[in-house]
Amino acid sequence: MNKIYKDLFEKAVKAAENSYSPYSQFKVGAALLCVDGSIYTGCNIENASFSLTNCAERTAFFKALSEGKKEFEAIAVAGGHDDNMRESCYPCGACRQVMAEFCSYDFKVVLSNKILLLSEILPYGFSFN
Ligand code: THU
Repeated sequence: MNKIYKDLFEKAVKAAENSYSPYSQFKVGAALLCVDGSIYTGCNIENASFSLTNCAERTAFFKALSEGKKEFEAIAVAGGHDDNMRESCYPCGACRQVMAEFCSYDFKVVLSNKILLLSEILPYGFSFN
């Protein structure tokens, strides 16, 4: 894996430090690389009303989108229980669908030891087109 994506993954690990996950004890961090080179991080934020939980990936996307970013190259995702943040943590279905809303199908999803394309992890994603 090239250095840019390794560094992006380490930013995702770091972002997980801010995870608010008292219910699952499962920390997730994400680092979203925009085409202009800027990076937005996010973590999962849980709620006592469980369905209100926001995933790390969507936190990162919504931060970037709300700051006017429109073009995205890759997102790194790191998740796990406390001392085990370097096993593959795959984005959930809802986050994949959010990626599809704003990214092309060659958008990259960077995990600890592999890089996947959005086209691989969301075949037949919903679209009005
Ligand atoms: N989680 C994420 O942050 N991203 C995902 O793609 C999957 C799940 C979070 C939500 C919840 O806080 C915890 O992981 C356990 O489901």
